[in-house]
Amino acid sequence: MRASLTILPDQQTLRVEPGTTILKAAHAAGIDITATCGGRGRCTSCRVKFVAGATPPPTIMDELQLGDALVREGYRLSCQCAVTGAMTVQVAPAIDERTFQILGAERPPGAPTPMAIDAGVSKRVVQVSLPKDEHHQTSDLEELLAAADGTPDIVSPEVLKTLPSALRDRQGEVTVTSFGGRLLAVESGDTALHKFGLAIDVGTTSVVTTLMELESGEQLGAVSSLNPQAVFGGDLMSRIAFAQFDAGNLRKLQTRIIGLLNQHVEQITRESGVLAKWIYKVVVVGNTCMHHLLLGIDPSYVGLAPYAPVMRHPLVVPARELFLKVNPEARVCFLPLVAGFVGADAVAVALATRIAEAPEIRIAVDIGTNGEVLLGSRERLWACSAPAGPALEGAQIRHGMRAALGAIDKVNLEDGDLQLHTLGEAAAQGLCGSGIVDAVAALLDAGVIDWTGLIAVERRDQLSPLLRERVRVRGEERLVVIARAGEAGAANDIVLTQEDIRQVQLCKGAIASGVAMLQRVAGVPATEVAELMLAGGFGNYLSVASAQRIGIIPPALPPEKIRYVGNAAALGAQLALVSEAERARAGEIARRIEHVSLAAHPDFEDVFVEAMNFPRVDS
Ligand code: FES
Repeated sequence: MRASLTILPDQQTLRVEPGTTILKAAHAAGIDITATCGGRGRCTSCRVKFVAGATPPPTIMDELQLGDALVREGYRLSCQCAVTGAMTVQVAPAIDERTFQILGAERPPGAPTPMAIDAGVSKRVVQVSLPKDEHHQTSDLEELLAAADGTPDIVSPEVLKTLPSALRDRQGEVTVTSFGGRLLAVESGDTALHKFGLAIDVGTTSVVTTLMELESGEQLGAVSSLNPQAVFGGDLMSRIAFAQFDAGNLRKLQTRIIGLLNQHVEQITRESGVLAKWIYKVVVVGNTCMHHLLLGIDPSYVGLAPYAPVMRHPLVVPARELFLKVNPEARVCFLPLVAGFVGADAVAVALATRIAEAPEIRIAVDIGTNGEVLLGSRERLWACSAPAGPALEGAQIRHGMRAALGAIDKVNLEDGDLQLHTLGEAAAQGLCGSGIVDAVAALLDAGVIDWTGLIAVERRDQLSPLLRERVRVRGEERLVVIARAGEAGAANDIVLTQEDIRQVQLCKGAIASGVAMLQRVAGVPATEVAELMLAGGFGNYLSVASAQRIGIIPPALPPEKIRYVGNAAALGAQLALVSEAERARAGEIARRIEHVSLAAHPDFEDVFVEAMNFPRVDS
């Protein structure tokens, strides 16, 4: 199935293989879009503006090259943006290229504000004169420091061990790598071009690792997996309970996540051809519990009232202490935490969405097993946790799966039946988050599910014949067959059970009540909300219409105020990786966020129970 891409001002509509970038599709059709950097995301010449269809979430290169203001207006780099569905883009009018290339240069009004890339990792090639004279009172280190103008001057014994051979391998020609005044590596010869980092988002259910080139900010690869700790508990409370006051279990959880991260490192370096020893900086975001477990810190008291974390401030540790198989001296930077259930992932979302800088009030909803809601502006910023459970990450759903090849990612109601789309157009294997949201929305519209979430088996006769056939009762269980065996290539029936729908209700109840409570605490009615940003790693674009139909977000908000911003926590980690200024900004944001504890609020229970129901369109 091909997707339609309309390009303005030519008004040409192309039929495009999904996954092709807009730039490639345009060039193949003979439409000129300038690509000064050759499609590597390092300039802005290929920018387009979305005028119709779902605007895809921004990539790090969109944020870096275009700046947040243009990203919010719907500008994207066409070389980074894949066509997935019907979309219409305007090739942006030319702006003098030089204004983007020279940071700090005066820019004409309206021109993008590029972000300066400065990961803080420096690599310098120096010529060291080796000690020659027995009577010289000198040493390898002194000669190295002399050649490197005395800096960096914090040196660990591990780096010292590598000095003798590194200095003598190429007659004193070495590359000195440093970060924040600390010597990270001395490599023989000139390796200055090899400077990489990892951005890691450790979620309760999913873990995403991105490899980036630190000089350009270019993304070289990404791997995502289920968090292997999930076998010891799907949600935070059960995972904390497993580790509580049991050092052996805590160790198991830590070993599991470190093992997975090392698998990610192995895969991502193999696929990209980058050596692990050239990875010098790692930024980690995650909720408070994931943060503690990765560091091997006992999270017992995070799970007990008043839910205090062991620490909140930003932390930098050497990779060797965590047994992370990158450069052993690489700095692993943990972004700061806010509270027991509002972690560094929320800070990263705030960083990526610029919610703490805008004059208008915006809401950011990070949908995850331990979801979070942020509300505010540059004046004040509130946050609460919204423990949505893993349903929208495809876990604890009978035929749920992560957003991978063959996941049903879109479901529409057309001609009285369900129409399905799978990721990569592959044979259907299961339902991922965006597909689950779409499916529930379509079933609500069709009357297959009522507003309380019940699969209305009793009213099957009122459905179209095709839908009627999908509603089944097996034993005691009510279910809807989303893909019959053979449909969309499915080997067996792919179903949504009554219990699955309950899980979706718990999830959306947690998020919707989080939004409602923050609005209440901050005294912000829906009319004063300028924008609501939906974040989460669904792998494809979450349909805003479906999210609103099932009531994840307030139906009172006009759809044009809602934007899907992709995996904002991972994007925040990437920003902090390639920019020390952004990492410092994360610290400021964490200090500014005011944590709201929902459970302690007298109105919460009523709001939550109401939020569990689906919106009634007929009332
Ligand atoms: S061609 Fe340079 S950013 Fe797309």
